[in-house]
Amino acid sequence: MKEYICPDLFRLDGKTALITGGGSGIGLGMAEGLLGAGASVVLAGRSQRIDVQADRLRAMGYGAHAVHADLRLGEAEAARLTGEAKKRLGGRIDILVNSAGCSGVAPAERFPAELFTDILQLNLNATFYMCREVGRHMLENGIRGKIINIASMSSFFGNRDSPAYAASKGGVAQLTKSLADAWMPRGICVNAVAPGYVETDLTLPFIHDGTHRYDHLFERVPAGRWGSPGDFRGVAVFLASKASDFISGVILPVDGGYSAR
Ligand SMILES: NC(=O)c1ccc[n+]([C@@H]2O[C@H](COP(=O)([O-])OP(=O)(O)OC[C@H]3O[C@@H](n4cnc5c(N)ncnc54)[C@H](O)[C@@H]3O)[C@@H](O)[C@H]2O)c1
Repeated sequence: MKEYICPDLFRLDGKTALITGGGSGIGLGMAEGLLGAGASVVLAGRSQRIDVQADRLRAMGYGAHAVHADLRLGEAEAARLTGEAKKRLGGRIDILVNSAGCSGVAPAERFPAELFTDILQLNLNATFYMCREVGRHMLENGIRGKIINIASMSSFFGNRDSPAYAASKGGVAQLTKSLADAWMPRGICVNAVAPGYVETDLTLPFIHDGTHRYDHLFERVPAGRWGSPGDFRGVAVFLASKASDFISGVILPVDGGYSAR
């Protein structure tokens, strides 16, 4: 009879997770990974999709709940969401995934100030508010938690015509490192995933804009394909589980090799 080494390294049984933007795309892919490893999750977002997805996952036998929140509303909404999620998850959050995000494209010299502020508010400010709320809950309760932010290739490279998106994702990377430095001594790992090009609602307008940019980007990905939300299941489990207990402050590309080319 073989004795298994570290059989529960990637298991999340009994753990609880709050996932913003969990009703679609990368957030939903990560939610599925965490559920598959044994966690219960709250999918948070502002569209009906979180209800549809939570119902679907519950019907499959998983512990999935939906909580509506509009994270553009600011810190009070982040606090309310955290409180509601705690109620659904038995008073405790072990894992936070910040996947709610948006983009906007316009020539930099004419980029509207309102759009710039809007994108920063959701991608960067709300990520900070959620980290602060859930981080404090973890610290106050001695939870050795895991926080996973969603950065981007735009955390590393300039992104022509998307100055707000690039600024926000550069900020998410630095925020992740700052929080990792602050909280790793107290048992909380804070990391970020930097997706390459992934087919989701966010990128659909680029895929179908008739400029062949899709094919051009596709050719630059060594994996030979765009990513799919399912490609984020494994990295979510890794960064949320004991397997990554000595990793904090990392911005991990999940990009089919894009950043290596
Ligand atoms: N798709 C890509 O190629 C790619 C690449 C790099 C980074 N990302 C990042 O991944 C994250 C998820 O994006 P995605 O590609 O899965 O697209 P997506 O549109 O499927 O996901 C974004 C989610 O954010 C939610 N959301 C939007 N506004 C919100 C608000 N005000 N309050 C609460 N929730 C709100 C949406 O309902 C949606 O579920 C984003 O942060 C995005 O910047 C995506």
